[in-house]
Amino acid sequence: MRRPLIAGNWKMYKTTTEAVVTVQQLLPLIKNAAHCDIAVIPPFTALSVVAPLLRDSNCGLGAQNCHYEKEGAFTGEISPAMLADLGCRYVTIGHSERRQYFKESDEWLNKKLKAAIHYGISPIFCIGELLEQREAGQFQTVVGSQVRAGLAGLTGEEFSHIILAYEPVWAIGTGRTATPEMAQQAHQFVRNLISQLYSWDQANRAIILYGGSVKPENITGLMAQPDIDGALVGGASLDAQSFSRIVKY
Ligand code: 13P
Repeated sequence: MRRPLIAGNWKMYKTTTEAVVTVQQLLPLIKNAAHCDIAVIPPFTALSVVAPLLRDSNCGLGAQNCHYEKEGAFTGEISPAMLADLGCRYVTIGHSERRQYFKESDEWLNKKLKAAIHYGISPIFCIGELLEQREAGQFQTVVGSQVRAGLAGLTGEEFSHIILAYEPVWAIGTGRTATPEMAQQAHQFVRNLISQLYSWDQANRAIILYGGSVKPENITGLMAQPDIDGALVGGASLDAQSFSRIVKY
């Protein structure tokens, strides 16, 4: 019923040449994968060289961030209209690295979600707790408040364009993955919350990705969980071979 998505977040890696080479290597490896949606999320600078390569392929294009205004005096920012113009189908919003290092607030993320949807781009809205928060038993409070604040004021129709990504911060880039059971528990909590905020129908249709040290070796166990609908892959998406193995979980 829910179509899985495997997305590769390249973060601040790859020059334009490296991005082109990776996509050229990747496309033949995944061309027969019809069981899920696939996306690569390169840095802004590589979007325009990667976009034409992905046209007519089974791999969508995503961006890593956007502003909430269409245009304006916002030096260094990129608008959702610009991303739509490049053919971006997805944009990650509220990645923990944006929340942590760039102090992006819930209020901003809420505006960004609305703006991306307005321009026809599906936001991949990231949520997740820090290690100390999990250890202090604050998982539900933290993730619950991220979800509520991010989605504040969004209609059910708007929400239907959002993909959620649960990424426990302690599992990102650390090699420490949440066990499939821990991830499942978190995803179930988020889906329950969506049912309260919207409806069970919407909750059951919501795509919830897992992210945090996803590798070819652990994807199968994660995808076997009933509430895990795909993965947001960092490090292991940089190499075409390893990303293609994850896609073929
Ligand atoms: P890693 O897969 O490198 O842990 O990164 C996860 C992530 O942050 C994806 O957005």
